[in-house]
Amino acid sequence: MCGIFGCISQQSQNLIENTLQGLKILEYRGYDSAGIAYHTDNNLQNNSIKVIKSVGDISQLAQKLKNPPKTNICIGHTRWATNGTVTKENSHPHLSFNDEIAVVHNGIIENYQSCCDFLAMNNISLRTPVDTEVIPNILYLLHHNKHNIHNYLQGQYVFCATGNSETELFLAKKGNLPLYIGRNNEQTIFITSDTLALPSNTTEIIILEDLDTCEITNNEIKFYNQSKPVTRKWQPFYQSFIATDKNGFSTYMEKEINEIPAVLQAILTKYHTDKNITSLRKQFHDLLKDVNCIHICGCGTSYHAALILAKIFERDLRIRTIAHISSELSPQTILSEKSIGIVISQSGETADTLVCMDVLQQKQIPIIAFCNVTTSTIAKRSQITFPLLCGPEIAVASTKVFCAAVLVGCLLVKNYTQNTQAEFLKTTHQILQNARQILPQPVSRPDKIFIIGKDIFYALALEAALKIKEVTYLHCEGYPANELKHGPLSMVDNNTLAIAFGNDTDNAKAEIEARGGKVITITNHTNNPLEFISQIIPAQTFALDLAHSLNINPDKPRNLAKSVTVL
Ligand code: AGP
Repeated sequence: MCGIFGCISQQSQNLIENTLQGLKILEYRGYDSAGIAYHTDNNLQNNSIKVIKSVGDISQLAQKLKNPPKTNICIGHTRWATNGTVTKENSHPHLSFNDEIAVVHNGIIENYQSCCDFLAMNNISLRTPVDTEVIPNILYLLHHNKHNIHNYLQGQYVFCATGNSETELFLAKKGNLPLYIGRNNEQTIFITSDTLALPSNTTEIIILEDLDTCEITNNEIKFYNQSKPVTRKWQPFYQSFIATDKNGFSTYMEKEINEIPAVLQAILTKYHTDKNITSLRKQFHDLLKDVNCIHICGCGTSYHAALILAKIFERDLRIRTIAHISSELSPQTILSEKSIGIVISQSGETADTLVCMDVLQQKQIPIIAFCNVTTSTIAKRSQITFPLLCGPEIAVASTKVFCAAVLVGCLLVKNYTQNTQAEFLKTTHQILQNARQILPQPVSRPDKIFIIGKDIFYALALEAALKIKEVTYLHCEGYPANELKHGPLSMVDNNTLAIAFGNDTDNAKAEIEARGGKVITITNHTNNPLEFISQIIPAQTFALDLAHSLNINPDKPRNLAKSVTVL
């Protein structure tokens, strides 16, 4: 989805290159076009704003910016089209009618039509059908009153603007979308909608609050909330220890699958030794004392982790626990006052999950997050956030974070002996090493793939099927093993491949094989109660290899974005 990156410094520097580097990191979020705007001259008399845009990836934009000039202000954007087709004109930055103000924007301006009417009354007509274009024009009309901008715009948005008669960046935020300001020790200020894009030497950040506006000049930052001056504090920022490059692997998906043992080890260590986490854990158990129902919510892979944890929590805590697809939890859902909500999210920015949090919060239900991006909106809006400690997950298909979320949930509700933990890590290494023998590629491409399992293995089957669908575009269905004979068995023939998780699927396997289908079983190596978490690895590797054999880049499957910030 869309991404914002920008920088401002006291002296002219290579800020265009910095912006392109920031946009390059934002690529993983999914986008179809990109652009930048920069100031041509420090001296306001000669200054103008130059905009360069391009459809396609950042390398195409970079082609147009060989030997870029030095500048002291540059803003950039990656666009994932929502309204207005994918064209160079529709990509950001958008300019005011007189080319004096440039804006990059994430989110949707819901009162777009009334903004157009307001601009038409002021004889301003627009060049594109993109909602963003109203922003620089309204800023132009507001002039010195630009901190009132939120009174003119409806919806959830963040934007960054710069004008050629001013030496500043102007930021605004309404609703849930994130916008961060980062600084290093070299007097350069960075703006981004995703902290992953911040340079590694960033030392501190400020997270904008709902209804904030902010002016950043080269020597001062001023914050306002609903037009009144406010203070926002710098907080220390630590870029993740896991590098954002591919570390020798050909894809991020492969790199991230290979990071699973290290991630699980980091979680086991930190969740047993870190004082902060011990204190969060105590707060969580205090909350549970008065609770008769737990609602665990998430989308896609995070929902599958929720399904598994709902089974485990119910069993180990003896508290009714329900897993919800975030977008299916509605104000009509029965939620007792003695409930707690748990939201699971890699990105911490998933719009469906944020809306689901609104429903929980309207009923005053405390929310706990399991989140990989601890600076995210979901983390910020939760009472307690348990970090998933995975470092950046770049591939669209989530792999390591799935394993991390399930492990964190297990550790919160049960104590595992040192031996159990050590054996689990050892088995995880073995499963990773042998993944391609455990689940080999099919000799010929199957027409249909079924993945079956019972109980938590059914949830694993759903997750494995999602991975295969996402990166191979083949139809693949996760199914409860015993349900197959209640319908889908009619589809099984000798072009069917079935993957069976767990030990309890013999009848279903026999039924498939009797109709010509091929079955591969993924069973336990040990009796370790955590081993099931690592059994997803062969399915992830299978999806990855199948994608390669079909010439699909598994890191960026078509039509999908890493962080789904639209409803
Ligand atoms: C996983 O492979 C998918 N890309 C997708 O289902 C993802 O899990 C879902 O969009 C939720 O994202 P989140 O964890 O960042 O909230």
